[in-house]
Amino acid sequence: MSGTRETTVALAARGYPIRIGRGLLGDAAQWRTALRGRHALIVSNTTIAPLYQPLLEPGLADLCWSSIALPDGERHKTLDNVARIWDALAALGASRDACIIALGGGVVGDMAGFAAACWMRGIDFVQMPTTLLAMVDSAVGGKTGIDHAAGKNLIGAFHQPRLVLSDLVTLDTLPVREYRAGLAEVVKIGALGDAAFFTWLEQHAAALSARDDAALTHAIAHACACKAGVVARDETEQGERALLNFGHTFAHALETVTGYDTLLHGEAVAIGMRLAARLSAHLGHATAADAERLSALLAALGLPIVPPPGLDAEALLAAMRLDKKNRGGRLRLILWRGVGTAFIAGDVDAADVRATWTTPG
Ligand code: NAD
Ligand code: GLY
Repeated sequence: MSGTRETTVALAARGYPIRIGRGLLGDAAQWRTALRGRHALIVSNTTIAPLYQPLLEPGLADLCWSSIALPDGERHKTLDNVARIWDALAALGASRDACIIALGGGVVGDMAGFAAACWMRGIDFVQMPTTLLAMVDSAVGGKTGIDHAAGKNLIGAFHQPRLVLSDLVTLDTLPVREYRAGLAEVVKIGALGDAAFFTWLEQHAAALSARDDAALTHAIAHACACKAGVVARDETEQGERALLNFGHTFAHALETVTGYDTLLHGEAVAIGMRLAARLSAHLGHATAADAERLSALLAALGLPIVPPPGLDAEALLAAMRLDKKNRGGRLRLILWRGVGTAFIAGDVDAADVRATWTTPG
């Protein structure tokens, strides 16, 4: 398997490898050792299962396995669908050593991981991400969960996978908007903590937009290594891990207010990072030039940087108040000192946030 890159999430007894390369799904030797028992359940969705599940099936021939294809879309990231996964485990007779294989993007991965966290108080799962966003973010680090009408990802658990297997083959069929949305999370990694990587992204924006394999492999491996480092130091987000939410409080508010189907998550994150950078510049933490550099990179990668018109600033602010990072009723945001340096701001004035939403451009 030439060109395969591997990095590790170093978590004492629960550490695991992240493998990135072409052709990994069809090469059972790459993933079978992560399955410890006799039962396996593939969790996917109706779009992805027909494309990529056949690659996995020969590798499962000697096991007792089944599969479930959930409906496609963020609005299906619900408890009802997690219950369907549990029903499938029950029908399989899945015991405590069963393994769930999450084959899909972040929606599938978050639900499959949450189902695994709860079944018999926690069984194994493997992440086989098929979107760029999932490869660089959601499949790594053990955050699992579902949405609630009151906000995104409000219900969930920390539950680490046994393996993350990112097969670049799957990105060949990923729609361009979804692909670009994944690039937003790659930019986030450079913006929040790695100025050299940010510069590398500026230099390779064209290659990344063209899905060049070498550039893509480097970007995924580097982003995963950075995220793995953060997760190893702060698995349950007591401190540093919150930095991975750069732009996300604005993004979650946008997703809540627009109803989850106007913007893709990564698109909302792109807009959210730009707003966080503008707020940081407005408060004197970062320079306007750095905020402009971030906007320029996002735009070069084909990402939106301005919120959809006509949104209600009070509704957006109300959604931000529900964010899991807030403490004691105060707005806690990830702000910016410039390229490569994000920080946690514990007591942001609501008036400044409101002004960020209402300032045009
Ligand atoms: P997604 O899972 O909805 O996938 C995007 C779309 O692409 C879907 O329609 C999907 O069916 C399709 N698709 C996926 N792979 C494909 C492929 N290879 N070819 C063709 N089509 C394909 O969205 P996403 O962007 O992957 O994930 C977003 C979700 O991830 C959100 O729910 C977000 O909250 C969550 N998330 C979680 C974390 C975490 O740490 N757990 C981090 C970031 C985001
Ligand atoms: N996506 C943010 C985190 O994993 O912490």
